[in-house]
Amino acid sequence: MSDKHNAGDVPTTGHVWDDDLGDYINQPPKWWMLGLTASAIWVVVYWIFYPSIPLSNGGSFFPGVGGWTAIKEMEADKSVVDEVRGKYEAKLKDMTPAAILADGDLTEYVTRSGKVLFGDNCAACHGQNGVGTKDKQGLFAPILNDDDWLFGGKIDDIHTTIVGGRQGMMMAHKDMLSPEEVDTLANAVAAGTPTATPLFTDKGCVACHGADGKGMQAMGSANLTDSVWRFDSSVEGIKYTINNGVNAGTPETRVAVMPAFQGAKLSDAEIKKLAVYVYKFGGGQADAQVAPAAQ
Ligand code: HEC
Ligand code: HEC
Repeated sequence: MSDKHNAGDVPTTGHVWDDDLGDYINQPPKWWMLGLTASAIWVVVYWIFYPSIPLSNGGSFFPGVGGWTAIKEMEADKSVVDEVRGKYEAKLKDMTPAAILADGDLTEYVTRSGKVLFGDNCAACHGQNGVGTKDKQGLFAPILNDDDWLFGGKIDDIHTTIVGGRQGMMMAHKDMLSPEEVDTLANAVAAGTPTATPLFTDKGCVACHGADGKGMQAMGSANLTDSVWRFDSSVEGIKYTINNGVNAGTPETRVAVMPAFQGAKLSDAEIKKLAVYVYKFGGGQADAQVAPAAQ
């Protein structure tokens, strides 16, 4: 090693390459050694405290002296959540859906859990967020986030719908009307003016759809004047509806069944939450006798 590379008294390994490159023996800095030692100690502490070293007897492991398990941690987290929830759940147990709706805090809580319930139980038919789903017959299940209601959009109407289910019924008319009559009616309905033809009254449509053709919520008969359609809205499609009816029990009929959810499927509390959740889509109709917030 030549003199110009002499770095003083730093010891070397004695190994020299190309007559010029020496191998110094430099200690790493102190802070680095301290860090290394501290981590080594930490690893040992961690191993002893937490479940760590796998044992050879199949699937077993050293459980650690701290007694920590993922399940315990999850349960601790859950009991915190349950405590928060319990307060609300206890409160809403004896409240009517209208009273829940009148309580801002509860409504917020209920809408949050309602989202999950709706996703699990309703979205398959009504679409995420109640946008409705279609099949080749038209709308398979009604849109729930608009203000157009077959069976009523007051909080209690919605609640009743979910509790007991709904099934509007319109008989098949193909044996009661001539093809010309069906054609005239279908064209009047398609134009949004069902009452323009006297057939609407003469053939009994008014009995269910009302004298003005706007439907009756007690029967879930559609409003035929608002150009909101459940089924195929072409003249041909409307003829099909008139000819074959809705839920008329024949293979050709249009089918529209809202299942009942009380009992087996959902608890009373869950149904109340869903009623408020659906109402809060934005289409819910104000109720003159909304109950005051519960004490
Ligand atoms: C199997 C499909 C299906 C499921 C699941 C379903 N629905 Fe329905 N729902 C329907 C159909 C079809 C109708 C319309 C019934 C009719 O036209 O007679 C309807 C009607 C309704 C109505 C009345 C709409 C109106 O215009 O008056 C509400 C409210 C409603 N459903 C809410 C729900 C909620 C909340 C859930 C989940 C708990 C749910 N539905 C689950 C098919 C379904
Ligand atoms: C027994 C009661 C009843 C009678 C009578 C009746 N309807 Fe209906 N109609 C209904 C119901 C209920 C619905 C809604 C079905 C649903 O969406 O669940 C309906 C739906 C319809 C629809 C579909 C609307 C849409 O949005 O797609 C048309 C069209 C219609 N009716 C026309 C007629 C005409 C025309 C007559 C007379 C020839 C008539 N209805 C007689 C009960 C009746």
